[in-house]
This record gives sequence, C-alpha cells and structure tokens, in this order.
Amino acid sequence: MSGLFITFEGPEGAGKSTNLQHVAESLRSAGCDPLLTREPGGTPIAEQIRDLLLANHAEQMNDDAELLLMFAARAQHLNQVIRPALAAGRVVISDRFTDATYAYQGGGRGIDVRRIADLETWVQGDLRPDLTLLFDVPVEVGLARAKARSALDRFEQEERAFFDGVRNTYLARAADAPARYRVIDGSGSLKSVQADLQPIIKWILERWHA
Ligand code: TMP
Repeated sequence: MSGLFITFEGPEGAGKSTNLQHVAESLRSAGCDPLLTREPGGTPIAEQIRDLLLANHAEQMNDDAELLLMFAARAQHLNQVIRPALAAGRVVISDRFTDATYAYQGGGRGIDVRRIADLETWVQGDLRPDLTLLFDVPVEVGLARAKARSALDRFEQEERAFFDGVRNTYLARAADAPARYRVIDGSGSLKSVQADLQPIIKWILERWHA
C-alpha cells in the first residue's frame, strides 16, 4: 500500500494554511481522513528545530546552517511521520516541504540549487510529493496580510528582493514540472479560491479510492 503525498506551498500571506483546512474538511466529509502536518516541524524534535529557525536572534544565522537545519527537521519528520503514514496508505498533506527550501534558501538566500538538490536526494531518496498546490500572490499583497496577522518571524522580516526571489522560484518550478503542480491565484476571495480547489479535491479523492 502506498498513500498520497500532497504539499501546500506559497509565499507568506498566500492563504495556503486556511485553504489546507478547507481541503482537509472536504476530504473528511467524503470519508477520507488525511494526516495533516507541516514543515519545518511535524514532530516534537522537528518543532524545536522550527522554533530555532523562526525566532529572531541577536546573532545572524548562517545561510548554510539554516539550510541544514531545514533538512535536519525534514529527515526527522519524514522518518517519524510522513513515510510511516504513506506506507499505511494515508493521504498526507504537508503545509510546506522541499519546494519551500528551493524557494526560500535557493531563490531568497541565493544558495546554489545543486546543493539543495544533493540534500534532497540524501534525505528523501526518490520520495517527492505526488501533488503540490502553489498559492500565488503578488509579494506586496502577501506581506501586507502577514503583517496584519501577527508579529513578524525571522523570514517575514526579510527585504522585498528576498520575497521576489521566493515567488519567482516557486513559479519557475511549477512551470518546469506542470504535471506535479497546481498554481492557485491566492489573491481572490476565499470563495473563488475554494471554487478553484474543487477539481483538486476531486483529483485527490479519485486517487485515494483507486
Ligand atoms: P510557515 O509560516 O508557512 O509555517 O513557514 C515557516 C517559514 O519557514 C516560512 O517563512 C518559510 C520558511 N521555510 C523555509 O525557509 N524553508 C523551508 O524549507 C521551509 C519548509 C520553510
């Protein structure tokens, strides 16, 4: 048995977490019980790494340290949560995964994509998401939403150019592998975004029943 691995991605304030709850509720009402998780995080150890990554520190975090911590959390999460759930045939939905590393550490920080690809292969082997929902919004719209919602974490305090890199990298990855991605316009109303999600929910249920 092998389950279905679905990831939700997008820059800050694109609506991915709200819409993840909507997709999960729709799946539940159809009798499918997805496992919901997030990155960085998803296990007690990985959540501690998340706290370290998101906190504002007096000391500047080195870019390679940040990259390695992302993959350290991922290794823990994959082995404790994601792989066992997929092996049990579950639908696993993760709020962010390795596309975020390409977007933030690659596109945002400027780390060479080959380094990220090497770590991806090391930590994940050939495991990749079956489907990735990319919520896209203009950078200023997403940042305004993030600012309105809570105190800014270490990433949210980055400069505009960082977020341009994040958004462009996400969009370029989706354009390169259209079979795996669904790009959703996150700037519309909640109602219009949820209408866009309907065929995706159907897609998941068809594969889950198969
Ligand atoms: P969240 O606020 O959507 O939960 O994400 C936490 C932050 O971590 C967000 O700013 C994106 C960042 N992040 C990375 O920089 N690289 C990664 O690989 C992941 C998973 C998240």
